[in-house]
Amino acid sequence: MREDLAPLFKDFSCGQLTLSNRFVMSPMTRQFSPDGVPGDDVAAYYARRATAKVGLIITEGVGVDHPSAIGHGSMGEENIPILHGDAALVGWRRVVDSVHRAGGKIIPQLWHMGELRTEGTPPFPDAKSMRPNDMSEFEIADIIAAFVRSAVNAKAAGFDGIALHGGHGYLIDSFLWAGTNTRADAYGGDILRRTRFATELVKAIRAEVGPDFPILFRISQWKLQDYDAMLAKTSEELGLIVEALAAAGVDIFDVSTRVFSLPAFPGSEMGLAGWVRKLSGKPTITVGGIGFDKELAASFVQPTQAIDNLGDVVRRFAAEEFDLVALGRALLMDPAWVLKAQAGMPFEPFDISSYSRLD
Ligand SMILES: Cc1cc2nc3c(=O)[nH]c(=O)nc-3n(C[C@H](O)[C@H](O)[C@H](O)COP(=O)(O)O)c2cc1C
Repeated sequence: MREDLAPLFKDFSCGQLTLSNRFVMSPMTRQFSPDGVPGDDVAAYYARRATAKVGLIITEGVGVDHPSAIGHGSMGEENIPILHGDAALVGWRRVVDSVHRAGGKIIPQLWHMGELRTEGTPPFPDAKSMRPNDMSEFEIADIIAAFVRSAVNAKAAGFDGIALHGGHGYLIDSFLWAGTNTRADAYGGDILRRTRFATELVKAIRAEVGPDFPILFRISQWKLQDYDAMLAKTSEELGLIVEALAAAGVDIFDVSTRVFSLPAFPGSEMGLAGWVRKLSGKPTITVGGIGFDKELAASFVQPTQAIDNLGDVVRRFAAEEFDLVALGRALLMDPAWVLKAQAGMPFEPFDISSYSRLD
């Protein structure tokens, strides 16, 4: 038993969300839900992690209830789940029940791909892909309503909250980022105006799900369109975005970095999750590179070894940089990674074939 990790096994609560420890499964697209409906294999996959002390599971990205939300084919995405229609809701309820029976909590990541959806691809090939610069106010309201429907469905299915995918260059992020949003109206211009789509969305969801239902928001500097992008070039800019989102109703920020320990801004060794926590006053989740010697993109093309960098995680946790610790690849390939960490057992090197399995 590793005593130094004991702080990460303390419980956590934020409003009505109570977790038995600080470990979170990071959202990971899996494409194992035919016609958007998760089956028993998906339920068993998530329950295996909950049984093995993953305190909170954030699901794979789930397409929101709009024809433009997801497109199959751009990156080989097929069988991405949805959260609308009777069959999908029945499927998710089984997933939620399995995770709860195993003692875990589970929150779906609501996803709209925006411009990163490939035009002309199923399930709605005629739908236009959404880019901030081409969207009418009617389309903006229509997409917000779609997110709200999916959030309400998540609550009805028994989920413990919802998570908005506000990072990586997808729709919400493409409004935030100057590189994809050059609108001249209330939704574009300076940082606060670019944040308006996201804040309106959060407020609209909050109004329907009630004051106590947790809303998580994923934010990232990097974009799939540009790995070196900086959404916020300074901590002041970051402060404007996260303060506005917190005021709109975000409860927890899921701060997506490729390497959790990299300093976010010059002059301090604090990582991005630390800055978001300090500036927003909200709890944060850190993620990126825990357990491996290479970040996600590099691990597609280079052998990736297991390392034990939990000492740095514990040190930064003690310094109150973040409240929760998310793992992506580590939990993709090994459902029992958290138990092994607790027991001080060695980790396995990254196995790229884990992308194509649901075990
Ligand atoms: C197979 C795979 C699928 C992913 N899909 C998503 C996703 O749907 N939504 C998301 O926000 N991030 C997604 N990510 C990013 C992870 O949530 C995480 O931020 C990233 O893998 C870094 O964490 P790690 O270094 O612990 O793997 C995915 C990562 C992997 C490996």
